[in-house]
Amino acid sequence: MADATLGGSTEAISAAELAEIGLRCEVDGEIATITLDRPERRNAQTFATWSALARIGESLPGQVRVVVIRGEGPSFSAGIDLRMFTPEGVPGQGSFGTVATLDDAAFEQAVAEAQRGFLWLRRPDIVSIAAVQGHAIGAGFQLALSCDLRVVAEDVKFCMKEPALGLVPDLTGTKPLVDIVGVSRAIEICLTARTVGADEAHRLGLAELVVPGEELSQAVRDLAAALLGTNRDAAAATKRLLQGAPGRTLEEQAAAERAEQALRIRALFASS
Ligand code: ACO
Repeated sequence: MADATLGGSTEAISAAELAEIGLRCEVDGEIATITLDRPERRNAQTFATWSALARIGESLPGQVRVVVIRGEGPSFSAGIDLRMFTPEGVPGQGSFGTVATLDDAAFEQAVAEAQRGFLWLRRPDIVSIAAVQGHAIGAGFQLALSCDLRVVAEDVKFCMKEPALGLVPDLTGTKPLVDIVGVSRAIEICLTARTVGADEAHRLGLAELVVPGEELSQAVRDLAAALLGTNRDAAAATKRLLQGAPGRTLEEQAAAERAEQALRIRALFASS
């Protein structure tokens, strides 16, 4: 697997720039693996992390169909870099003290930019998998939630800690959480800021698969291989259909199925 300077349709981001931010991105054929790589800070995230994730998404090579997000070291991610709460902040990125002084438009822009780092993981042309071990706290939990699928190690500890720190979860995690566990359970999990372990995560549908820690990488590789076994265009069309289903009536969904199938069958038999 080679270190990649990503070169899709928009400005590339180099391996050196990513390393500076505490990220790695390796592209191996149809699989891109993004690694949170600041284990000495438990892969704490910053505004630079989220901007870089957005740039990775924008410049992803066209052949990529599966994106794996993983964390180096004992924890997937301990959430936002707590230096944001200090007067000094994160070098070069300010602190919540400075963010608090932004006017509405600038604040909106800053958070929207952060959210861009998460939203692309739902694109229909890819399937995103979070490989989660140890702690996934706050922004770490939300990053895992922003992926289509979660494969977790037995020691996983999900925690939506934001309300305990006086914040709301704003990195796109509230909708997938509610979609998966329902409003009542989401209220209970977020407003107690408690830890959800592997068994419960599996039972609630927060994890598709739970494996011993030493088997996490192989389990993700196996899942990626299985996902790559289906037709690329059919997979994207099916993901579009499934994503749209909760917002449609049965009749509307049936119509959407017809529309997608017409495209599929015409494409499949166009050349015969
Ligand atoms: N931001 C900055 N540095 C961090 C963070 C963080 N979020 N989390 C851990 N670190 C640093 C620690 O300060 C420590 O640094 P040091 O070696 O210089 O002392 C190092 O990472 C290792 O951390 P430990 O606490 O020693 O590691 P341990 O494995 O025992 O515990 C745990 C891990 C449970 C994740 C703990 O570090 C923790 O509670 N971190 C803070 C979690 C948090 O509140 N995140 C914010 C959530 S809200 C949001 O994301 C919006």
